[in-house]
Amino acid sequence: TRYSRITGTGSYLPPRRLTNADLAAELAAKGVETSDEWIVERTGIRARHFAAPDVTSSDLGMEAAKQALEAAGLQASEIDLIIVATSTPDMVFPSAACILQNKLGIAGCPAFDVQAVCSGFVYALTVADAMIKTGSASKALVIGAEVFSRILDFSDRTTCVLFGDGAGAVVLEASDTPGILASDLHADGKHVGILCVPGSVSGGQVLGDPLLKMDGQAVFKLAVGVLESAARATLSKANLTEADIDWLIPHQANIRIMQSTAKKLKMPFEKVIVTVDEHGNTSAASIPLALDAAVRSGKVKKGDTLMLEGVGGGFTWGAVLLNY
Ligand code: ACO
Repeated sequence: TRYSRITGTGSYLPPRRLTNADLAAELAAKGVETSDEWIVERTGIRARHFAAPDVTSSDLGMEAAKQALEAAGLQASEIDLIIVATSTPDMVFPSAACILQNKLGIAGCPAFDVQAVCSGFVYALTVADAMIKTGSASKALVIGAEVFSRILDFSDRTTCVLFGDGAGAVVLEASDTPGILASDLHADGKHVGILCVPGSVSGGQVLGDPLLKMDGQAVFKLAVGVLESAARATLSKANLTEADIDWLIPHQANIRIMQSTAKKLKMPFEKVIVTVDEHGNTSAASIPLALDAAVRSGKVKKGDTLMLEGVGGGFTWGAVLLNY
């Protein structure tokens, strides 16, 4: 049997780091009131990184990809599939994946973006796994890269304090031992309104509002339930139980969502990888950023069983269970 396995991870954060106090000071200058105390208590976020205005998702993704290639011991020329999960691509088209392919100095292999907002990375990983299992690829780069700072409404304190920019990447290779064990993806388009950027480019201008809108409480309620069900679905597909999971690597949106999910899965919170405190919510980049941090800090070791799970606009949600 042909399986797929993660052989390298990488990540990148743009250098400009804003603590809650830094952000609160910038917002105060615009008459928007918030505090470190409020942000930490409601979300667990302490800092986030914002990219410089001329830096794009493909730039961030490129740095993460280089690290992942190095960790896997591969040259860019050996890659035969590139998937970028992003909702903040460099331009309407071509895809960030095509632009990144060229920055890597390679050509020819398929390259495309997956747009599933904060679930983007689990979607992209599932697609790459399927393409490897069917033989259409052998060495894939799967990247989550976002510049959410570009779509934030800095006059809306209920959303602008939550997000950050960054990228994470993995190399996923064909293997004769199982890496990815199971995955479970879902969407329900009736929830478009609770989390969206409703604007579009049309007739030579931006039509509608190009900034992020969110009903935080509605998102919170939906997120906890669907994350539990997706996680359980992957466990049952792989014939495993919660006790078999070494590390839970959830989408990093809010520490309270992560605590609730861990509780529902009866997992001690020490088994949850947390980077939301330092990264904020980086949407599709958050899971590969957290995975890479956990690998490089020595928490996640070869052979560990990992549960990756994401939820976001769409509504979309999903989980990937894997042997690292
Ligand atoms: N600073 C200070 N006060 C604030 C801020 C802020 N940044 N934002 C809101 N407030 C105020 C509100 O105005 C409100 O004041 P009021 O009571 O006088 O009206 C009060 O704080 C409480 O606001 P709520 O919206 O009820 O706060 P809540 O406890 O629901 O927390 C939050 C809001 C953090 C957004 C929460 O709903 C949440 O975490 N939701 C999940 C959404 C999420 O994480 N989304 C991430 C993107 S989606 C994804 O990635 C899946």
